[in-house]
Amino acid sequence: SSTVRVNPAVLGFAAVPKNLNDVVTVPAGYTVTVMTRLGDPLASGVSAYANNGTDGDFDKRIGDHGDALHFFGLSSAGARDDNSNTRGLMVQNHENLNVQYLHPNGPTNVTSGARPQAEALKEMMAHGVSVAEYVDAGGRKWSYVPTSSFNRRITPATVMQFSGPAAGNAQLRTVYSPDGTRGRGTINNCANGFTPWATNLTAEENWAGYFRRDAGDIAPATSKRTAREITSLARFGVTSTSGSYRWSFVATTDTLYTRWNATATADSALQDFRNEPNQFGWVVEIDPYDPASTPRKRTALGRFGHEGAFVRAVSGKKVGVYMGDDARNEYLYKFVSNATYASADAGATNRLAMGDKYFDAGTLYVAKFNADGTGQWLPLVFGQVPARPASGSTPAYTFVDQADILINTRLAADALGATPMDRPEWTEGNPNTGEIYLTLTNTNAASRPLNRTDAANPRHYNDPKGSTAPVPDPATPPQPTNQFGNPNGHIIRIREAGDDTASLTFRWDIYLFGADSAQADANVNISGLTADNDFSSPDGLFFSRTSNAAGGVKPVLWIQTDDGAFTDRTNNQMLAALPGSVGDGGAKTITNRDSTGATATQATIAGAAASSATLRRFLVGPSQCEITGIDSTPDGRTLFVGIQHPGEDGTPSAPSSHWPDSQGNPAVGATVRPRSAVVAITKDDGGVIAL
Ligand code: FEO
Ligand code: CA
Ligand code: CA
Ligand code: CA
Repeated sequence: SSTVRVNPAVLGFAAVPKNLNDVVTVPAGYTVTVMTRLGDPLASGVSAYANNGTDGDFDKRIGDHGDALHFFGLSSAGARDDNSNTRGLMVQNHENLNVQYLHPNGPTNVTSGARPQAEALKEMMAHGVSVAEYVDAGGRKWSYVPTSSFNRRITPATVMQFSGPAAGNAQLRTVYSPDGTRGRGTINNCANGFTPWATNLTAEENWAGYFRRDAGDIAPATSKRTAREITSLARFGVTSTSGSYRWSFVATTDTLYTRWNATATADSALQDFRNEPNQFGWVVEIDPYDPASTPRKRTALGRFGHEGAFVRAVSGKKVGVYMGDDARNEYLYKFVSNATYASADAGATNRLAMGDKYFDAGTLYVAKFNADGTGQWLPLVFGQVPARPASGSTPAYTFVDQADILINTRLAADALGATPMDRPEWTEGNPNTGEIYLTLTNTNAASRPLNRTDAANPRHYNDPKGSTAPVPDPATPPQPTNQFGNPNGHIIRIREAGDDTASLTFRWDIYLFGADSAQADANVNISGLTADNDFSSPDGLFFSRTSNAAGGVKPVLWIQTDDGAFTDRTNNQMLAALPGSVGDGGAKTITNRDSTGATATQATIAGAAASSATLRRFLVGPSQCEITGIDSTPDGRTLFVGIQHPGEDGTPSAPSSHWPDSQGNPAVGATVRPRSAVVAITKDDGGVIAL
């Protein structure tokens, strides 16, 4: 059996070709085991998942759209064991729904009329977070334990506690939570984080779309709301008149459903749910080892479209939490604890109390990227944040206290002049160097026009998708497959001054640019990608656990894609990389071109060019999936990966993927519905993955 190679210069597997097959493809010598799938039971007495739309009880089943995941080790005696390679708790987010497959013939009354209560309940409960016990029967033969007493579902109905400076603020008070310290549930949980004291952080991302506001609530002339509330809701995009799944249109007075209607109807915010949107958009801390524990919403970390929360804890330094806000032209944030990290706290048995210590008191910052490869962290501190200026018909917004800044983080970051980014997704830290990586998944031409590129978001170009011809004249129609803006995304990385989480300045460069390698124009394929490693729309990021600076083991960086620009060429994928360090490339000038043919140059700071030795495709997913969610056992010999929403564009009668039933089974029936699932990947010789 193989061992960890020290300081590998080259990745140790054969690149997987791009493909459109309805299976998870991994390199020769590796095996895929399907683990927990949508609907799998998490308690005794729950029936096996029929997968025909008739199943209920999602508060006791694995949810839909599995996203970020983390493996928390268990000893054979059932106690926390960070070093266990054979037993653990898989904590996974359930971001959203392939709603068409959850009901026999798809959902009822999705555009008008009353939603059936049973359908809405099922849809709600298929969101949230799951905790499932995983066990290795020996030789990395993994399965999950359906009846484990550790199994748990956290759903939009689970009671939560607000913690930190905004807890109890008037803007969090509702008829359900008159003192603003209690909340109900979590929604659209995307990426994650974990702490040295073994808690899980789950990030509420696209929560805004779930709420309904009637037209009279949105229009200032008729709204019972204040101008400040209207400004806040508009900035966060809480402007739907139905809400994603129209849950508030169930004919009931049960507030589990009616709370999704945020229209101000009563005389007081204590009598309706006008403030319910303010209860979402937070990072939530969960103790995975205690199924009875109440999750805590950490308000000091700010409120926005939280993608994830990478925690960097170095003994004797402040704890840093790096967080993206995933929407076009949103920002990168950092929270720095007041408390200095003491490594003895990692073993605390009251884990959520450690979260209180490190996450409830500190300073939130937002990033500004300068053209010369430096950057600043701007403090979001009451007294140091000016009013957000008026723009168009939106009045100026003056902050009244620190809680107001934390609840309306986007408005405060606007006021400070932070750098608008091309959709900040996952954050992840290199355990050897302390450098922080951030995926900027992509953006469109309207959000990043030719004249608003900058050094950190340098691209506005024509991506002619798979063409080997020179970039065609964009003024010549028709070019239906061309996309302008930054359709393939990039990965930026930063190094704090003095490698200190509390630093107010940093250096940055762009590690990697997405592109189609068939496109020969060096202004498109800036990183020199080849058929072995071309990709688009980076999203999930993970540094392998098997790293050890003192021992010289270099960590592998895993990159997962969620792509709209490249899926005609390949299903979504995962790459392995052996990255260098900030500044290993140099200055670069890119020629951009817009749809009228106008050109402009943009200088940036680019990392060293990629090569097949240090960037290589490891996995391609099944049809219409996204690859998101990744962790490994501590020994690096089992890799867990999330396969999200296979067949997302299909219908109940004609599913467009049959995965995971299709894995290793080409004869799978044409009406078998797809399911999001976790896979365990092992190397047949028992070695460390990718090395
Ligand atoms: Fe849920 Fe930004 O990905
Ligand atoms: Ca994501
Ligand atoms: Ca994404
Ligand atoms: Ca997705």
